Amino acid sequence: MAEFNVRWARTADVPMIEKLIEPLVQERILLGKDRVVFYEAVQEFRIAETHDGEVIGCGALHVMWEDLGEVRTLAVAQPWLSKGVGHALLDSLQNDARELGLKKLFCLTFEVDFFTRHGYAPIGEDIVDPEVYAELVRSTDEGVAEFLDLARVKPNTLGNTRMLRIL
Ligand SMILES: CC(C)(COP(=O)(O)OP(=O)(O)OC[C@H]1O[C@@H](n2cnc3c(N)ncnc32)[C@H](O)[C@@H]1OP(=O)(O)O)[C@@H](O)C(=O)NCCC(=O)NCCS
Repeated sequence: MAEFNVRWARTADVPMIEKLIEPLVQERILLGKDRVVFYEAVQEFRIAETHDGEVIGCGALHVMWEDLGEVRTLAVAQPWLSKGVGHALLDSLQNDARELGLKKLFCLTFEVDFFTRHGYAPIGEDIVDPEVYAELVRSTDEGVAEFLDLARVKPNTLGNTRMLRIL
């Protein structure tokens, strides 16, 4: 039996989510966000926890368009790396995506091998129709800007790979 399970996040998890991603933000692997942004996005998050209730991982699914979403803020606590926690979280987020009716999942990452093993492939530019682009570009969300590869977010995306999976 797995030593952990994956569940929806609760508001009380937000400080733990911040603690999980803090070292990754310091290393510029993940993008730091204000606490209010995590509370506002709490319904997007899945949490991995041990049977003692210790939070050991998190991940979020952000809807961008009718058929398009992003896997973001996927992070596993250091002592739990390479034990299948990331896989379980991603699996759960992908199921959530399917239930919502999404067909494509975007991800911006340094973890190219992990995502490749989960069916993601690197993408170039111009991956949405000009009409959809014109609407997406109106979003204030940083992840959408990263998906569109806008110049203003280039400092965040440096060295990362933009990847996409067809569900
Ligand atoms: C990406 C990340 C979430 C993966 O988490 P993880 O829990 O280590 O992932 P898994 O354990 O499912 O898989 C990791 C490796 O362990 C191996 N593994 C999985 N289950 C295993 C098990 N039960 N026993 C031994 N090895 C196992 C897999 O082969 C896998 O190899 P791969 O990474 O080359 O595909 C984690 O590395 C992380 O937090 N990275 C930093 C944040 C980040 O970049 N997030 C992505 C962008 S949002």
